[in-house]
Amino acid sequence: MSGQEYKSIPIRSWEITPEHVYRSRRQFLRLMGVVGAGTLLAACGVQTGQPKQAASPTGVSPDPSATVVPELHTVGTPTATAVATPTPVASATPAGSAAGFEELRTELTSYEAITSYNNYYEFTTNKERVARLAEGFKTSPWEVEVGGLVHRPKTFGLEDILGKFTQEERIYRMRCVEGWSMVIPWGGVPLSRLLEQVEPMSTAKFVRFETVYAPEQMPGLKSRSYSWPYQEGLRMDEAMHELTILATGLYGEELLPQNGAPVRLVVPWKYGFKSIKSIVKIELVDYQPETLWSTAAPNEYGFYSNVNPNVPHPRWSQSTERRIGETDRIPTLMFNGYAEEVAHLYEGMDLTRDY
Ligand code: MTE
Repeated sequence: MSGQEYKSIPIRSWEITPEHVYRSRRQFLRLMGVVGAGTLLAACGVQTGQPKQAASPTGVSPDPSATVVPELHTVGTPTATAVATPTPVASATPAGSAAGFEELRTELTSYEAITSYNNYYEFTTNKERVARLAEGFKTSPWEVEVGGLVHRPKTFGLEDILGKFTQEERIYRMRCVEGWSMVIPWGGVPLSRLLEQVEPMSTAKFVRFETVYAPEQMPGLKSRSYSWPYQEGLRMDEAMHELTILATGLYGEELLPQNGAPVRLVVPWKYGFKSIKSIVKIELVDYQPETLWSTAAPNEYGFYSNVNPNVPHPRWSQSTERRIGETDRIPTLMFNGYAEEVAHLYEGMDLTRDY
């Protein structure tokens, strides 16, 4: 992520880290030895010195909120498992920047939690084992083929995405359909910038995304429960929306494999599964594309999958969520809190039907 420009976008003022806070944070991170070091994690508020929870089938430490939340991979099975809690985040703020952090009003989820509690089914359905299984996943060289209903199809190398477009920092909430959430400082580029370059045809109505299919590196692909490769889709106007980004970084560092390196989608007003990882193909089409989850369980995961506290999942409520690192559940917001920016996209639609 070196050499990239950072730009704060005024999405919602309270969500954006004020520049001086971000700078003091960045400076603080550098002082503490940069991301990855134990001291940094402690400084970010994670209690260190605590053994990492072992992954096991029963595997999960009790969720302090005592709320039982189903896991995605129980598709079609009416069972529920308590969600594992990554190392809890303490409320401590780093010395020397406490004032700045108070202004944040919403705590960033710790780097450790974001990089050690993942959904990436191509590796495993066990959230706490993804990082280890994805270690060494080959992300270079990498190409993203952009084609379909466009005037100028183009294959972008990762270096094109990093070098040709201004990389921006976006602090977004991420709400998983399973009922947990995080606040993540992504680095990346609005998808619209890339799509503008290929000149979409007026007949293009939807965008289809595909994850790399690499069975030799991804043990989870042996599972026959899903139709690989992972694929996702957006309507054209959703794809062109300013909030929709292709993320290449996290906390000012390169994206790690468990988070979808080297390039993934982030659509913050939709459930996390729409944010497809490790993208190799983007295709503009005139039909609503199939998605992995709507194929696996059409009655449970719709094409739109906008965060909506009023539409329960068939097997659990969506009215509340638990921020990873915190114990209490908090209300889930319509469109994950981005209604002002995106509600107009769905005017006239029945969101209980088109979920
Ligand atoms: N993309 C691919 N290719 N494979 C996946 O299993 N999981 C999705 C989404 N993108 C997934 C994926 C789900 S369910 C969620 S909640 C988010 O990625 C999790 O992103 P994170 O692990 O970076 O937090």
